[in-house]
Amino acid sequence: MQYDEFRQAGHYLVDYIADYLKNIENKKLFPNINPSELYQLFEEAIPTRPKSLSEIQKTLEEKLIPYCTQVNHPGYMGLITPSPNPAGILADFLASALNQNVGAWSIGPSAVVMERKVIRWLNDLVGYDEKAGGNLTSGGMMANFTGIKLGRDWTTKDIAQHEGLQRKWAVYVSEERHVSIDKAVDAVGIGRNFLRTLPTNEKFQLRIDALEEAIAKDKEEGIHPICIIGLAGTTNLGACDDLEALSAISKRENCWFHVDAAYGGGMLVSNKYPNQLKGIQLADSVTIDPHKWFYAPLDAGAVLVKDHDRLTKSFGIQPPYLTDQSEQKNERYLFYVHGFEQSKRFRSLKVWMSFHHYGKQQIGEWVDQNIKQAKRLHQLVTEENILESATEPMMSAICIRYKANDLSKQQLSKLHYDVAARIESEGRFWFATTQMKGQTWFRINPVNIYTTQNHIEELYRVLKQYCQEAEAEIKKEKAEA
Ligand SMILES: Cc1ncc(COP(=O)(O)O)c(C=O)c1O
Repeated sequence: MQYDEFRQAGHYLVDYIADYLKNIENKKLFPNINPSELYQLFEEAIPTRPKSLSEIQKTLEEKLIPYCTQVNHPGYMGLITPSPNPAGILADFLASALNQNVGAWSIGPSAVVMERKVIRWLNDLVGYDEKAGGNLTSGGMMANFTGIKLGRDWTTKDIAQHEGLQRKWAVYVSEERHVSIDKAVDAVGIGRNFLRTLPTNEKFQLRIDALEEAIAKDKEEGIHPICIIGLAGTTNLGACDDLEALSAISKRENCWFHVDAAYGGGMLVSNKYPNQLKGIQLADSVTIDPHKWFYAPLDAGAVLVKDHDRLTKSFGIQPPYLTDQSEQKNERYLFYVHGFEQSKRFRSLKVWMSFHHYGKQQIGEWVDQNIKQAKRLHQLVTEENILESATEPMMSAICIRYKANDLSKQQLSKLHYDVAARIESEGRFWFATTQMKGQTWFRINPVNIYTTQNHIEELYRVLKQYCQEAEAEIKKEKAEA
């Protein structure tokens, strides 16, 4: 091990990252490069000869970094991947050096305790009491998967883990769910045909009448509710279901109630809107991803459980090679008998360091700033009425679309994709597109500590101009045809 080389390369790297973050707005947000050229760049056999770290760094600066999606760029308002907070970046560096495996106490005692403390903080934010537990996961997908597995096990009285499902069960959620729910319902053996994806009201919240109707119809056919899922911050536009009503129905039906707040969980630190997720504490399990709206670097998801005992009941298989025979075994917590993962990255360090360095207050201010940006965009759109906004944003996510009444649905849809592609190619902004209620929308979501109100104003100006130009182009083509 060449410590001197490691030290030198490490210092260079930290300086490089500091400059990279400071000058990020001068970089192109998204690379204009053909995928085949990128594959070509990395076309090489496994290296046989050693290279110095400084030579490798140079290669990374040439081949990797220019072709990243620069999520730290203030114009990044896309799929929910935050600009990572700098304290979290340092934490990940240290976590890799220590390489604690928090699956087992014996491979990371202090890391296990820190992880449990971070889970406790998240449980406090939700409003769970001391009986609660949880797991940090790779993200919302795995957290939702765990929540649905916990629900399957509880509702079937812990029989399904051993016998499989003995009868037909259904899961209920709004049509605005994230696809992780579909994958999880499949993976725990319920089957995607038994996922009831129900319509939403004008605020994109699950319609309670539709839920009641679906449950009644299923029961007539001998299909029983195994889990109801509430969305506290939909992927498309941050809508939050009526969690209190969903909890009451789950209790009546004697089934599990899971809340997906993977993204919307950030509202729990908002200084301005602290009560937006009313009723979240009534859930049996909750997904919250620190790697979304707590601005932690990937990966750090979390599943929280109201009753920690349910984790042991669902995952408490202990093979002989992993038992703890010490006298302190009750205190030497083993994450691997309380969750899916065996080897487990030390994810809590970045969340712990973020909260310590910035404090909940500052993280809440970032959240509020992003909400203000979405609300400002909504205001600009509604004032001019050239575009329309799906609904007043409750969080940082907003969906808007161009209104061109004399274009066909296909033309209008293509116009949105073309404008998004043009903006992507310019490299100053990046956002997604989506479909809701049969229409194509621009889906804009600043989960970004560097975005300012000026960026939002400029984005609006560009969007309006490009949509109008695209419409004129379509009309010109039509006239010439
Ligand atoms: C509401 C919701 N749930 C779950 C997920 C999946 O999270 P991850 O990508 O961290 O697995 C997302 C991702 O955007 C989401 O928006």
